Amino acid sequence: MNAANPGRLDPAGRVVMVSGANRGIGAAIAARLRQEGYRLSLGARKLDEISEPAGDNCLHQAFDALDPASPQAWADATVAKFGRIDGLINNAGIAVHFGFEDGDEADLERMLEVNLKAPYRLIRAALPHLKAAGSGRIVTVTSLAGMRFKRGSPGYAMSKFAAMGLSSAARSLFWDDGIRVTAVAPGPVNTDMIPQGFTGDTATQPETIADVVAMVLAMPNNASVAAVPINAVYEPLP
Ligand SMILES: NC(=O)c1ccc[n+]([C@@H]2O[C@H](COP(=O)([O-])OP(=O)(O)OC[C@H]3O[C@@H](n4cnc5c(N)ncnc54)[C@H](OP(=O)(O)O)[C@@H]3O)[C@@H](O)[C@H]2O)c1
Repeated sequence: MNAANPGRLDPAGRVVMVSGANRGIGAAIAARLRQEGYRLSLGARKLDEISEPAGDNCLHQAFDALDPASPQAWADATVAKFGRIDGLINNAGIAVHFGFEDGDEADLERMLEVNLKAPYRLIRAALPHLKAAGSGRIVTVTSLAGMRFKRGSPGYAMSKFAAMGLSSAARSLFWDDGIRVTAVAPGPVNTDMIPQGFTGDTATQPETIADVVAMVLAMPNNASVAAVPINAVYEPLP
């Protein structure tokens, strides 16, 4: 127990999976959680791009969100190395820009696979271990585009609204197992995915998103945050 903050979960020994850990928000989350003292299971397609070194406290595992078998293989590898899973950060995502009058429906399928179905499969794969932990945590990086539609890609918004539904369902169904579930919903973030019209200065920094993830991961079972909308520019609450 942390005497200065009773109830705060101690990261020591806790094992957290982070998808898309090789760049952008996922890399910032991995760096922040390593500083906090978590043991990390980092999933990515490009393992050579991961900055956090592999070792006793850090597993690098091939993860492709477009491969339906990949989530279970990653969860199995995590348990084989660490014997437990305490947290899952569904971060990997793609944004493909097309509207109602252009584009290819295959891109919609791809967004649903990566932004929605892979997180669903990862939750299924990690679930027995998150339950066993007694204080499991699931954080899904959704988007403000999944809480209200302002501009941009309707297909991306559809995938992120659905990811909000996934997060909401998991929060409800696994509450009694001590699992707490949060959707972190940023607006524009300074990564390769930065939306048009924003710059590195006007968008939220990925390290700030990592701060939020670190905070919700350590919150006790009696203080759950369902969603954290994060605005880079003013707008009324969604
Ligand atoms: N940046 C923004 O403005 C913003 C705003 C709101 C929400 N978000 C959300 O934040 C999350 C992280 O995005 P980001 O801003 O960090 O974007 P990013 O810099 O483009 O990074 C995307 C990450 O997802 C991974 N990924 C994509 N397809 C994958 C697949 N099939 N299998 C495994 N990994 C895959 C990428 O890996 P590869 O290197 O292999 O492609 C990369 O690690 C996403 O869910 C995104 O929707 C971003």
